[in-house]
Amino acid sequence: MRIHVTRKLPEKALQTLYASGWDIFVGPEEIPNRQRLLWGVGGAVGILSLLTERIDAEVMDRCPELRCISNCAAGLDNIDVDEAQRRGIRVCNTPGVLTETCADFTWALILGLTRRLLEGDRMLRAGAYPGWGPMMLLGLDLHGATLGVLGMGQIGQAVARRASAFGMRVLSWRRGDSLERVLRESDVVSLHLPLTSDTRHLLNAERLSWMKPGAYLINTSRGPLVDEAALGEALNGGRLAGAALDVFEREPEVHPSILESPRVLLTPHIASATEATRERMALLAAQNLISNLCGP
Ligand code: DGY
Repeated sequence: MRIHVTRKLPEKALQTLYASGWDIFVGPEEIPNRQRLLWGVGGAVGILSLLTERIDAEVMDRCPELRCISNCAAGLDNIDVDEAQRRGIRVCNTPGVLTETCADFTWALILGLTRRLLEGDRMLRAGAYPGWGPMMLLGLDLHGATLGVLGMGQIGQAVARRASAFGMRVLSWRRGDSLERVLRESDVVSLHLPLTSDTRHLLNAERLSWMKPGAYLINTSRGPLVDEAALGEALNGGRLAGAALDVFEREPEVHPSILESPRVLLTPHIASATEATRERMALLAAQNLISNLCGP
């Protein structure tokens, strides 16, 4: 019984796997290249993957005995779930344990972006602060403003709950509702949707043009929900006031037009990155794998 863990995980999760008595093979700390992944999974009955590994038919072909893929992430877009189902391979993920952590982080981005924290920090470090000024780095008042939450799963709901503490009106969007109305009325739009063929480029040039002039966009879910080139145009053309992005269309790359824009706050996919949450995710992924391999 061989289990392949694609990358090094927090110790507690590894200990849980070792205690199962199976043969555990742990990949590198960094993202494994494709060859290394294909070689590593050979003969595995279980794979514990991270969102950086594409688990598709080619990977599954390498392990004909594969019974379970346990993804250490809330999202499943790195896994060909249909292909796994066709082969009778179980697929699981780690929702729930990262909800509050990701919601907190989304608010860090909302506050940081609308109150221009990074621009202020850069100004000071560049020695460019001319002294207090009545028109300097003016931002948006969140109280009384409208937050549009696209996707009302666990994280979307947790983000919306926090909005009442800031005196914001919330417009939530679920599939089937009018997206145009939410985009036209929101001062801040925050994305909390899974990446599927339906949601890829949900915010394309046309829908970005529905956003209120001077509005802000926050994305902590998946990069390809937004057409990055179109977003770059909307930012650099002055239509949007700013964007805070934790995820990107072609991670780890960022579209040059986004990098050029002074009104963006960029973070490297760290919404769930607290010690406790990453440990909880890894532990849950390990437990999911063991219970699926042991179960009927
Ligand atoms: C997830 O779990 O899907 C996040 O993007 C990483 O925490």
